Parts: sequence; C-alpha cells; structure tokens
Amino acid sequence: MVFTSTLLRAVGAALTAASLALSHDSPTHSGGYTLADSFNTSNFFREFSFFSDGDPTNGAVAYVDASTANKDGLAGYTQGGIYLGVDYKKSASSTTNRPSTRLESKKSWNRGLFIFDIQHMPAGTASSKGCGLWPALWTLGPDWPAGGEIDIIEGVNTQNHNFVVLHTQDACPVSNNGAMANTKLVSADCKGHLGCKQQASSPTTFGTDFNAAGGGVYAMEWTDDTISVWFFPRNSPLLNTTRASSPDPATFGEPLAKFVSAGCAMSSAFKDHRIIINTSLCGDWAGKEWDSTAECKAMANTCADFVGNNPDAFENAYWIFNSLKVFQRGEGMGGGNGTGNGTGNGTEYGRGHGYDRRRGVLRG
Ligand SMILES: *[C@@H]1O[C@H](CO)[C@@H](O)[C@H](O)[C@H]1NC(C)=O
Ligand SMILES: *[C@@H]1O[C@H](CO)[C@@H](O)[C@H](O)[C@H]1NC(C)=O
Ligand SMILES: *[C@@H]1O[C@H](CO)[C@@H](O)[C@H](O)[C@H]1NC(C)=O
Ligand SMILES: *[C@@H]1O[C@H](CO)[C@@H](O)[C@H](O)[C@H]1NC(C)=O
Ligand SMILES: *[C@@H]1O[C@H](CO)[C@@H](O)[C@H](O)[C@H]1NC(C)=O
Ligand SMILES: *[C@@H]1O[C@H](CO)[C@@H](O)[C@H](O)[C@H]1NC(C)=O
Repeated sequence: MVFTSTLLRAVGAALTAASLALSHDSPTHSGGYTLADSFNTSNFFREFSFFSDGDPTNGAVAYVDASTANKDGLAGYTQGGIYLGVDYKKSASSTTNRPSTRLESKKSWNRGLFIFDIQHMPAGTASSKGCGLWPALWTLGPDWPAGGEIDIIEGVNTQNHNFVVLHTQDACPVSNNGAMANTKLVSADCKGHLGCKQQASSPTTFGTDFNAAGGGVYAMEWTDDTISVWFFPRNSPLLNTTRASSPDPATFGEPLAKFVSAGCAMSSAFKDHRIIINTSLCGDWAGKEWDSTAECKAMANTCADFVGNNPDAFENAYWIFNSLKVFQRGEGMGGGNGTGNGTGNGTEYGRGHGYDRRRGVLRG
C-alpha cells in the first residue's frame, strides 16, 4: 500500500527535527564508545538506499527499488522493527528472477562498534530447509577489495551456523586468538575471494534456530588491529551489556569470532564502510553449492529452478531489525564520515501498512 504524501511529509519533518536534536547531543567523554548513528523505525528508510541493479553475484534475484518494495510489501516497518523481505507469492518461471531487497547505508564509517538487534533473519521453511537462500549482513568499503569487506552474518542453503568472513585486497594474515574455543578458524589470510573465515558452532547463530530463539544481538567491533563479532541470543544474560549508553566490549564476554592482525595492516585494509543488508538467492555461492547439497539437489535440478517454482519456500525469508547502532570512540566520532547527507524528505518511503499479509504469521 502506498502512503499518502501528507503522512509522509509529516514523518519526514519529524525525522529531520529528531536527527538535528541528535547531532547537537555531542559526545563529551573520553575513551569509551559514544552513539554516533542510530537507525530504527523512526529513520531507517531515510538513511538507507535501495539497490536495484542486477545482482553482482549472479543470483536468481531481482532487487527492487523503494517504491516497488513499498507497493509489494517487501519492505517497511512491522512489529516495532524494520522489515526487509523476499517475494514469496510469485510463481515465476525458472528464468524469472524472484524479487528481493538489498539496502545500503548512505553513511560510511571508519572503525567503531556496530550493534544490530535482530528479531528475525531470512530462513527456510520446514520443507525448503533454506535451499536457495543467501542472506547477508555485512559492511563494505569502496572499490572492492581495496576498501575491504566484513561479513557479519552470512550463509547459504541448509547451513545452520554462521560464518564470519573478512576480505582484503592484499595479504592479511590473522589469528583468532580470543575467540570462543568452539569457533573454527577455517582460513587465516583475508586476501581476495576466499577471505579469512571463522565458522560458529551454535545453530542459534543463524537461520531457523536463530529465529526460534527470538533472534538476538550481533555486535561487531572494528579497531586498527582487530575485528571481532559477538552474538547474544535473545535470552543471553549478557545481551543487555550491548544496551548500555556507552557499551564496552570488555563486558561482552568472549566474541563468537575474533580476527587479530598477525601482520595485517588492518587500518589501511578496511576503510569507509557502509552497512549492507541483502538477501540473495542462488548466485555465486548458494547456486554453486546446489549440486553438492543433497537435500537441495533432491528438490530441483538447479537452484534457479527451485527459486522460480517454489514461492512458498521463501515465506520466512525476511529480516526484522529492531535497531542498528553505530558507536565511535571519543570526540569527533573518530572519523564517522557522514557521507550520507540526510536530505531525503521521506516521501519515497514511509511507515505504515502493507504488511497485513504477515499478520497471523508474525507475532504482533
Ligand atoms: C530510535 O533511535 C533514537 C536515537 O537513539 C531514539 O531516540 C528513538 O527513541 C528510537 N525510536 C524507536 C522507535 O525506537
Ligand atoms: C549479497 O551479499 C553478499 C555478501 O556476502 C555479496 O557477496 C553479494 O555481492 C551481495 N549481492 C548484492 C547484490 O549485494
Ligand atoms: C543487565 O541486567 C542485569 C540483571 O538483570 C543488571 O544487573 C545489569 O545492571 C544490566 N546491565 C546493563 C548494562 O543494563
Ligand atoms: C570522508 O569521505 C570522503 C569521501 O569518501 C573522503 O574524501 C574523506 O577523506 C573522508 N574523511 C575522513 C575523515 O575519513
Ligand atoms: C545529497 O542527497 C541528494 C538526495 O539523495 C542527492 O541528490 C545529492 O547528490 C546528495 N549530495 C551529496 C553531496 O551527497
Ligand atoms: C521531496 O519529495 C517530493 C516527492 O517525491 C519531491 O518532489 C521533492 O523534490 C522532494 N524534496 C526534497 C528536498 O528531496
């Protein structure tokens, strides 16, 4: 459902006032992390852009623009959070790509603490088992791989645990000293397509089990010589450490994954990162693994056939973010280089309806 421009303008005006108030609230403290940017149902679609070009990773996916997403109920606000979904109704032929969403922050940052409170992430259904899905929450610098990439949540098909992966242009050797003992260091050089990779062991870190537990909070800290990722399931007693006004990773407990420079020049390998949230289907990873994933291969000959012919398989393929926050250290926000200019007036997008189809499926 399209929103009326009257309502949208009112929302835009309120948001402008709120963001001005926020920016006058300048940080005055030393050492700790201070809130630099906060994205939630009050401002998300003004601060993130829809990417609607072809999938650079060749997925069976058609990323839609804001007005299509709004009209078709693929993105919006629901249940106090930000909904970003995949079409699960169109019975396309196998040659037609399925509509999905991919959003990118207008702002970019250097270093900092990123905290994502997530109610739900894209997952399969009991019968689809996740086949065809490739969801990702990640940050990306310009001119890949020159600006580096940090994959915070990523996985494909029947995968039931998270992979945390970094990609750099040059050789970037790392250790995982300090990560949870049951996290596996799969590869230790971040260079190029393979990247350095850590594999979580708990199924609650990803997909169906993550959602069954009510989701949770992912946090990523990026410093000059470490990149760490924590996961707090919804019932974790430590989850509220992420809600402190000045959160301190020293109180977070052991990270799920930690990449410690072992000769990697992290301060130059990662720069000017934007936050990206996308749900791809098939493509360079999920599609290529199709043949070697027996449960998926048993359902269709190719990933694209499966995606085209099984809209129901994508019923649970949506994100709901409660909030996304970026904290930076000390004064001046440590280079939080507001490249987004916030001039959007919210008319292209807005809050409201259009998600009625979800009522009765989602908890209200
Ligand atoms: C959104 O974030 C801002 C800044 O942290 C906060 O003041 C506001 O209460 C939040 N709104 C909602 C709906 O959570
Ligand atoms: C979707 O996410 C993955 C993240 O790993 C990325 O490699 C891929 O390029 C993304 N596709 C788009 C269109 O953003
Ligand atoms: C987290 O919760 C515990 C117990 O409920 C409380 O003692 C503690 O102060 C809380 N910490 C924060 C940062 O809110
Ligand atoms: C901010 O971003 C611009 C454009 O990307 C860049 O030229 C500039 O060096 C950045 N400044 C800082 C402090 O990172
Ligand atoms: C500011 O945002 C507007 C609207 O999105 C855009 O047209 C303009 O190019 C932006 N300016 C800069 C300096 O980024
Ligand atoms: C606000 O949105 C309307 C309708 O899309 C557009 O005509 C107008 O140029 C926009 N104004 C700004 C400042 O972006």
